[in-house]
Amino acid sequence: MSATADSRAYDLASPSVARGLFGHVRSAMLLAALLTGCKEPTGPEREISGAKIFTQNCARCHGLDGKGLPEVAGVRDLTDPGFMSTLSDERLRRSIRGGRPPTMPSFPHFSEPTLKVLVAYVRTLSQPELQLPPPPPPGP
Ligand code: HEC
Repeated sequence: MSATADSRAYDLASPSVARGLFGHVRSAMLLAALLTGCKEPTGPEREISGAKIFTQNCARCHGLDGKGLPEVAGVRDLTDPGFMSTLSDERLRRSIRGGRPPTMPSFPHFSEPTLKVLVAYVRTLSQPELQLPPPPPPGP
């Protein structure tokens, strides 16, 4: 007797349980669609950051500051204005694209925009006046 009552209660409850679950699945799907819609855009409008490219590809030898890590033999100091002023933009592009054997690898896959942004960023390492000013100190 009580079993029948229980199963009836269950039968009554199940559609709403199912609706509730379905609602959750739907919100999850909507959320997923929203998230994929907002992920990093691709294509020509994608924002390229010179600092990011440098950090990801160059800093392991040149250091985050560009001075060069002591354990990398022969690495050049990219913050040295005397040295850097002897290198044209074209030379920088060629050195990055083609590498500097035997140690510096080539980056032939860098697109034109990537190369342009990266060269501009490398310039800022030896020309502090090109760097963005630091954020103002917090007010009183
Ligand atoms: C595996 C270590 C390594 C990595 C990674 C590396 N470099 Fe170098 N880089 C070197 C060394 C060593 C030299 C000095 C070799 C030379 O000038 O012949 C050098 C030289 C340079 C020079 C001077 C080139 C010239 O024409 O005289 C520039 C500019 C430079 N690197 C930029 C970069 C940039 C930008 C990246 C990232 C895209 C990068 N390097 C990644 C090791 C590295």
